[in-house]
Amino acid sequence: MQLPPLLALAAALLPAAHTARAQTSGGSNVTCTYAFWEFNALDESPCFVWGQLQSQCLTGGLTVTPLLNARYYSPPSLSGQVNDCNCNVVSYNLMAACSWCQPNIFTNNWVTENQWKQGCTNYDASGISGVTLSGISIPAWAYLPDNGASWDPDTAEAAFNATLSSSGSSSTHSSTAAGTGSTPASGGSTSGAGSSPSSPAS
Ligand SMILES: *[C@@H]1O[C@H](CO)[C@@H](O)[C@H](O)[C@H]1NC(C)=O
Ligand SMILES: *[C@@H]1O[C@H](CO)[C@@H](O)[C@H](O)[C@H]1NC(C)=O
Repeated sequence: MQLPPLLALAAALLPAAHTARAQTSGGSNVTCTYAFWEFNALDESPCFVWGQLQSQCLTGGLTVTPLLNARYYSPPSLSGQVNDCNCNVVSYNLMAACSWCQPNIFTNNWVTENQWKQGCTNYDASGISGVTLSGISIPAWAYLPDNGASWDPDTAEAAFNATLSSSGSSSTHSSTAAGTGSTPASGGSTSGAGSSPSSPAS
């Protein structure tokens, strides 16, 4: 028995559409105005890379949208995205870096790593696992451990600077200690109402 022409066409198109989406969906419409060292080898912002990363766990992809002044991106447990894409140090670092590059954002405008990982059943504090990363260019500084503390822009920038001066290796992985980390002002974490980190792309 033959499929009606329209169904046959749909059946032929679906696999291709799924394959394409896995590679290209997701990103960000944030405009970074600061900290351009955070951009990856493809000149993509940390917001864009974070959107790509999160999209690996979401049908239809995700666009990271700008923070409003004095707000912060919600941890996975509050954004409803407890998954392998978000429950890791790379996602945490990209989230904080994405915050840092936006106007009027300060170091208390992102939660600590300990707050970020609350509610995660499996949290990878030293890398990322269980996620397909092909097509995503993640900068080396995004792998730096935070040991539960708040992401420190100076530590990350110093690691980035070090990769510039070391020739020959494009994947230098610095393990500079984060020190004690800074303590966020209470304003950043007392309210449960972080801004929504993202909205699904249509
Ligand atoms: C970014 O995208 C969101 C959702 O699609 C939209 O509401 C918002 O206006 C966009 N912001 C900018 C700066 O383009
Ligand atoms: C990284 O290098 C830039 C350019 O030389 C410099 O302005 C900045 O202070 C350096 N940052 C750190 C944290 O070392």
